[in-house]
Amino acid sequence: MSQVYVEDLPQHVGNEVLIQGWLWNKRSSGKVRFVLVRDGTGWVQGVVTPDADSATFELAESLPQESSLRMWGTVRADPRAPGGHELLVRKIEAVHIPQQPFPIGLKEHGVGFLMDHRHLWMRMRKQVPILRIRDSVLWAIREFFHQRGFVATEVPIIVGTAVEGTTTLFSLDYFGQPAYLSQSGQLYLEATCAALGKVYWIGPVFRAEKSKTRKHLIEFWMAEAEQAFLDHQGNLQLQEDLVRYVVESVVRCRARELEELERDATKLREEVRPPFARITYDEAIRLIQGRGVPIHHGDDFGAEAEDALSQEFGRPVFVERFPRKLKPFYMKKDPTNPQVVLCADLIAPEGYGEIIGGSQRVDTEQELLEQLGEDNLPVEPYGWYLDLRKWGSVPHSGFGLGVERVVAWIAGLPHIREAIPFARTLTRLYP
Ligand code: 4AD
Ligand code: MG
Repeated sequence: MSQVYVEDLPQHVGNEVLIQGWLWNKRSSGKVRFVLVRDGTGWVQGVVTPDADSATFELAESLPQESSLRMWGTVRADPRAPGGHELLVRKIEAVHIPQQPFPIGLKEHGVGFLMDHRHLWMRMRKQVPILRIRDSVLWAIREFFHQRGFVATEVPIIVGTAVEGTTTLFSLDYFGQPAYLSQSGQLYLEATCAALGKVYWIGPVFRAEKSKTRKHLIEFWMAEAEQAFLDHQGNLQLQEDLVRYVVESVVRCRARELEELERDATKLREEVRPPFARITYDEAIRLIQGRGVPIHHGDDFGAEAEDALSQEFGRPVFVERFPRKLKPFYMKKDPTNPQVVLCADLIAPEGYGEIIGGSQRVDTEQELLEQLGEDNLPVEPYGWYLDLRKWGSVPHSGFGLGVERVVAWIAGLPHIREAIPFARTLTRLYP
């Protein structure tokens, strides 16, 4: 008999199936034993009556949490059962029986303890749906870009230059030459976009950030896109369409997981209804000040400022046209006001912070040299990047979406560390 997964049980009502998984919990009621088994796709209750053979009955009584097992039984629809279906068990066979109690009980544990046991914690009731939602977020991003004719293309992770400022670079010794872990694939995407027109990639990037917040990781995944002949306004529309597509896909494909996390899918759907809000940096500063958060024109946004914007709009908001001096060298100045650049940060609702940073790019060699100079960056390592402005330069724009921040928002997580299987934070390299 071939294996059936818990998520497919509704298609097998009345049939005998084989479930292979791990024992989550068990209890008894009179002469009946209940075993709750998980297999990665869901949880199902097995009902073991004294009619089962004695070895099976004995296992249902004695197997400890996280025993791996095979369980044969007949599928029964029962609205009272967890997941809506249960198995009338004929036979259980143990695959591996732990000799020590599972370190994570069903009671509460501290965060430090859980993160030290992340390799085991990820099996738990709230963690599994989060990782399944993450899968759907990544899948939806790929689907969106693929449908729109973007070409997936890769960028190097070991690089010789900074993209997002020099303070958060991880250095390494590249056979005697200084090298860094990439903070963003953008500069390389600008090259491939001149070859392929519309490109994207999804991959890990690295920031040696000394910030210990619920929104920052040291290693995180970014989904980045770059499009030739796309201007600032078109860039915002592309981002809005992407975010809406991702949220709507996840709400549709992962309804059960959102429910398990007690996340209100209707609220999510409403938050992404068109159009997203759009305000300028100047307007944002006034709004934030109006909500009593201390901030001055020329300051970057802290967590409090982002929260104030979240509360103001209750849906995603683009903050456009930041002062040039707050942003990196590659952003194009607004021709009507060179003090600001043609960029936007997309701030998520409910205090999940900035989920996208993007801009139209500097597209002439002259401007690029000037802006490298303004930021005291050496020209020589950016030789290849300057080349892109020498042959067939075009207006072009792109953005980077923080995958874990989007997962945290959709799943309603209190902290970004649960949005990735193995978080790298300021103080954590284990496991
Ligand atoms: O705003 P950022 O720094 O933009 C860039 O790196 C551009 N080069 C992207 C581009 O235009 N192609 O980062 C993009 C997004 C942020 O909006 C945020 O969502 C996320 O990446 N992010 C982080 N997520 C988790 N931990 C961190 N330390 C993050 N830093 C940025
Ligand atoms: Mg940013």
